[in-house]
Amino acid sequence: MVADGSRLRLGVNIDHVATLRNARGGADPDPLRAALLAQQAGADGITIHLREDRRHIRDTDVDAVMAGVQIPVNLEMAATEEMQRIALAHRPHAVCLVPERREERTTEGGLNVAGDDNRLRDYITPLREAGSRVSLFIAADEVQVEAAARIGAPVIELHVGAYAEYCAEGNDAARDVELRKLFAAAALGKEFGLEVHAGHGLNFTNVGPIAAIPEVVELNIGHFLIGEAVFIGLEAAIHEMRRQMNLARL
Ligand code: PXP
Repeated sequence: MVADGSRLRLGVNIDHVATLRNARGGADPDPLRAALLAQQAGADGITIHLREDRRHIRDTDVDAVMAGVQIPVNLEMAATEEMQRIALAHRPHAVCLVPERREERTTEGGLNVAGDDNRLRDYITPLREAGSRVSLFIAADEVQVEAAARIGAPVIELHVGAYAEYCAEGNDAARDVELRKLFAAAALGKEFGLEVHAGHGLNFTNVGPIAAIPEVVELNIGHFLIGEAVFIGLEAAIHEMRRQMNLARL
């Protein structure tokens, strides 16, 4: 339980509305409409991941979301020159750098900040100067947290994918090991003065322990919410996620 009861922010990732649209081609369902609905349902931000192969959202979706929503936009992207140009043209509230491999189905691991620190330091400088809060998507690993602080990133997002997988498998021992790593990494991040976020693979049943990590101030959640929207609607799914997050912070 978190003593101060501080409110955790929820960033809703709408990429998979685009996945559904792209499966058929055409314009439906419209990712901007989902973003506006999420905003109305109380999301604190909209997250979009412009992948190099444009398999989810496209450049025109970035234009539409940036122009259409009032809440902060978090643009996830690989640390490439092309993506830097796009981010600098849009100046979103936040830019989250993620590792990207073309063959992966989703973002599989964290960024190797420690192994690429000089390049990443130079890469994030213009983004920071343009006013975007730069976040690095990293594993719960002390070496990566330290490297993120060293290169001057103000925010880290902890990859909770392994924790989510162990929850799904019912492997409680491995889940608890991951959870301990996440608690330690979040505490270390705060010690270094970093803002700490978390995301990947969260759903109604596994979100509680992550929402209870005291240093975490934002969760970014997408695939489960969009899937659940098929059954109960996006607004109801967001409301229930918010309820579960609040319960963890009572
Ligand atoms: N945060 C980051 C940095 C991500 O790359 C993703 C996946 O795109 C998410 C959060 C959301 O993950 P999910 O769609 O599994 O909720």
